Amino acid sequence: MNRAKNPFIDDSIVSKGDYCPRKEVEEKILKKLESGHNLALIGDRRIGKTSTAHHVIDGMKGYYKVDIDLYHITEPSDIAESIIDACMKVLSHVWDGKKVLDLASRLTPKFDITESGVSFGVGTKGQEYKKTLNVAFEFLNETVKRTKGKVVILFDEFQAIKEVENGEAILKYMRGKIQKITRIPFMYVGSIRHEMDHIFRDQSSPFFKQAEIIYFEHIEADIFYKFISTRFKKKKIILEQDAYDYLYQICYGVTGDIQTFCRVAFDSLPEGTHLNIEAFFVVLEIIYKNEQKYFKNILDGKELTKVQKNLIVQLAGAQEQNDIKFFGKAFQKTIGVKSPGAVTNALNALEKKEYIYKPNGQYYFANPFFKEWILDYRYLIQATAGNLTAGSPIANTRIGFGYRQRLISGS
Ligand SMILES: Nc1ncnc2c1ncn2[C@@H]1O[C@H](COP(=O)(O)OP(=O)(O)O)[C@@H](O)[C@H]1O
Ligand SMILES: [Mg+2]
Repeated sequence: MNRAKNPFIDDSIVSKGDYCPRKEVEEKILKKLESGHNLALIGDRRIGKTSTAHHVIDGMKGYYKVDIDLYHITEPSDIAESIIDACMKVLSHVWDGKKVLDLASRLTPKFDITESGVSFGVGTKGQEYKKTLNVAFEFLNETVKRTKGKVVILFDEFQAIKEVENGEAILKYMRGKIQKITRIPFMYVGSIRHEMDHIFRDQSSPFFKQAEIIYFEHIEADIFYKFISTRFKKKKIILEQDAYDYLYQICYGVTGDIQTFCRVAFDSLPEGTHLNIEAFFVVLEIIYKNEQKYFKNILDGKELTKVQKNLIVQLAGAQEQNDIKFFGKAFQKTIGVKSPGAVTNALNALEKKEYIYKPNGQYYFANPFFKEWILDYRYLIQATAGNLTAGSPIANTRIGFGYRQRLISGS
């Protein structure tokens, strides 16, 4: 079959033509980096931080990028390995391959260097991290030297260091090392807002005031609308403004989630479709089908307690969270607890398990389609989600959309 290639990417960073420009924040970032300032870029998940960080640095003529991704780190030596791998990549461009290897074997006699990178033979207990990190910073210094200072050091998912054993001590150690590397811009990107805030804004933190903070906002709705509409034209699909507005709203403006919807829409809608509200629900239904098993399992499985399940259902139903009196007696009863403290515990547990997050005092669903699914299927999930029934307090929250809408229109 001759199908147009799907132009929507939702599972990796986007670049070049797949990257929707975000002029304002790009300029802000660029200005700071060019003047050699350190920068912390903080924002919610899947909102586009990594893509924009790379876009800006890659656009800096004559600059190299040490790209240190800490997403997967679990132990201290992983941090050093990530730094060294990133440095080796840059060094291989600016230096003789043999010299890079010489440096590596001089600095890392105890470590294995293979095609796939470095791994440390030393333990990870106690103060061992200093040895490995010390080596990593030797690499970084060499990289700065070999690039003649024309380099930006990018740490992505920087907050992950806090989760590692000795995390605080490691941060302190790194701060000491970084301070000695002057006039080189360091860019720290992170997604868990609280953690990043603590690192750069708590007086007691080693990185307090070590970087200027930019909060990464949601993409501007009109700009992204134009970007997305153009991509749909490849299949002559016309994205109607009201459907887009609704999509933007349910995804809270998170680029990655909007792209997920569009990817599914592009695959499943026939050529020439008007993507209006009605088609919107057709696509939503397909997303539900793809995810159904996983969604159901959240409410049926053992990962969440009964109270947490009830709570998540209630949160989905709350149009205006200010309307929920989280700590009132009635709400406690609805979710099945007996004290305000227990509500707090359940909220914290859901946040920790990353079902919800709270960037600004309101709770958001990490997966907005899960929230919609709960809303649309709330009549069906009553059996598993405790005391949720058609007559429960959230039964009237989504007039005009979703399940009801489709009942009314008979589709
Ligand atoms: N500038 C952009 N233009 C278009 N889509 C974007 C853009 N930035 C991010 N996205 C979408 O968001 C997803 C996540 O982007 P990413 O940069 O990894 O976000 P973050 O680092 O904030 O988690 C991408 O896979 C893509 O679908
Ligand atoms: Mg990222």
